Amino acid sequence: MFSRDTYTSRRAELRRRVTRGGIVLLPGNTESPANYPGNVYHFRQDSTFLYFFGLDLPGMAAVIDVDSGKETLFADDLSMDDIIWTGPQPSVAELAHRCGVADTRPLGDIAEVVTEAVRRGRTVHFLPPYRAENKLFLSKATGINVDALPNHISVELALAVVSLRDKKSDEEIAEIEEACRIGYMMHTTAMKMCRPGIMEREIAGAIEGIALQYGAGVSFTSIVSQNGETLHNHYYGNTLSEGRLLLVDAGAETVMNYCSDFTRTMPVSGKFTTRQKEIYDIVLAANDRAFELSSPGKLYRDIHLEACTVIAKGLTELGIMRGDPAEAVAAGAHALFMPHGLGHMMGLDVHDMEDIGEKYVGYDLETRRSTELGVSALRMGRRLQPGMVMTVEPGIYFIPAYIAKWKAEGLNAAFIDFETAERYFDFGGIRIEDDLLVTETGNRMLGQSRVPATTDRIEEFMAEYRG
Ligand code: GLY
Repeated sequence: MFSRDTYTSRRAELRRRVTRGGIVLLPGNTESPANYPGNVYHFRQDSTFLYFFGLDLPGMAAVIDVDSGKETLFADDLSMDDIIWTGPQPSVAELAHRCGVADTRPLGDIAEVVTEAVRRGRTVHFLPPYRAENKLFLSKATGINVDALPNHISVELALAVVSLRDKKSDEEIAEIEEACRIGYMMHTTAMKMCRPGIMEREIAGAIEGIALQYGAGVSFTSIVSQNGETLHNHYYGNTLSEGRLLLVDAGAETVMNYCSDFTRTMPVSGKFTTRQKEIYDIVLAANDRAFELSSPGKLYRDIHLEACTVIAKGLTELGIMRGDPAEAVAAGAHALFMPHGLGHMMGLDVHDMEDIGEKYVGYDLETRRSTELGVSALRMGRRLQPGMVMTVEPGIYFIPAYIAKWKAEGLNAAFIDFETAERYFDFGGIRIEDDLLVTETGNRMLGQSRVPATTDRIEEFMAEYRG
C-alpha cells in the first residue's frame, strides 16, 4: 500500500469533484467461483476501490458521504473458521486505519445504508458494475432492476474518478516502472526460448510464471502465438516452426496491481526473412512516429492516424496498398491491415478504467468515439496530458478471411492491391508495443531497458541464446 495520506487525499479530492452531493458507493470485489463455489479464480480487487482505499482483500465496500465528509468501510472481521482455512488477517479497524478511514461497519449493513439514502431522496453515486455479484448487490440495495443499472450510473462520479486516475503520480509511475521491469524479463525470456520445435504453451507458461514470481501475475491473458494475425489469440497449442513469426503480447502486475503491457514479434528461426523484415520495419517506424508525436495537448486520435499513415505509406511502397497514403487513411483503407487502435491508457488496469466506460476514459465532448472505419477501434482518442500513461502498439496483420471479404465487397479497392495482399496469406501478423509516460514537454518510454525492438537487436539477442 501507499501511505495513508495518499488515500485520504485522493478521497478528499474525489469529494471536492462530486459537487451534486449524496453518497458515493464503491464496492470492492468478492471471490469468484471458477467451477464450484470453493474453487475460486485468482482474486483481483476492483481498481477504483484499490485507488481510493488500497485494500486488496475480498468482501469489502465503502461509502463516502459527500455532504458530511464521513467515510465508512464495510467489511467483516474473520471468524475462527475463516482463520483456520485462510489464515489470520488484520482487523477491519486496522485495515481502515491503514487507509485513513475512521468508521467501520459490518458488510451486511451497507444495503441498509444505501436503501436509507434512496428513501431520503439522496443521490447514490455508483460506477458501472461489471461483476455479477456487484450488479446483484447494487440492484438489491438501490431497488433498480439489474438490466437498468447502466442507465443509473453516476456520470459525475465517472468523470471525477477518471480525472483523478488518468494522471499518474510519481509513486504510481514507480510502480508502473516495476511492472515494466517484470515485463522486460517476460519478453526477453520468450526471446531466449523461441526456436523451432518448442510449443507456444511452454513459452506462455514460463513468462506467466515470471509475472507471478515477481508480482501479482499477468496483467491480462498472455498472447503467445505464431498466428499473430489473430489479435487476441489465447491458443497455445502450436509447435513453433522454422520460417514463422512468434507474436508475444504480455504484461505483468506489481503486487500493488499496477500494470505493464508489451508486444514483440520475433522470427522462430532467429533470423527475419527479407519479407518479414520489410513489414517489421514499417511497424517499427509507426511505433517510432507515435513516440515522436506524443506530447501534452496532442489528440491521441491524430497520433493514431499518423501511425496509420506510416503503415499505409510502407505498404504502398511494397505494392500491397496503392494511391495516396493520406487519402487511403482518410478512407479507412489501412484498417484492413491494422484493424485495432494505436493504444490505450494503462495504470491499475491494463486497459485503464475500461470498466468505467471508454466514452469517459478515452473520449470527451471534443472527441467522441467514431464509428468510421480506421478509427472505430481506437480505445483512446482524446488529448494527452502530463502524467498519462499510454500503450503504443501499431501492427500489420494479414487476416485471410478479412482480406477475402474486402476483396469480395470491393471495399477500398482503389487503395488495396488484393492480388499482392493474397501473397501474404501465410505471413501472420506483427505488432510492436511499448508504454509511454506523457511528460510536461513530450514523453518518456517506460522501462529501464527497452525490450529488443529492432530486427538487428532481436536477431543478436536471440543468437546469444542459441549456442
Ligand atoms: N495488449 C493487450 C491489449 O491491449 O488488449
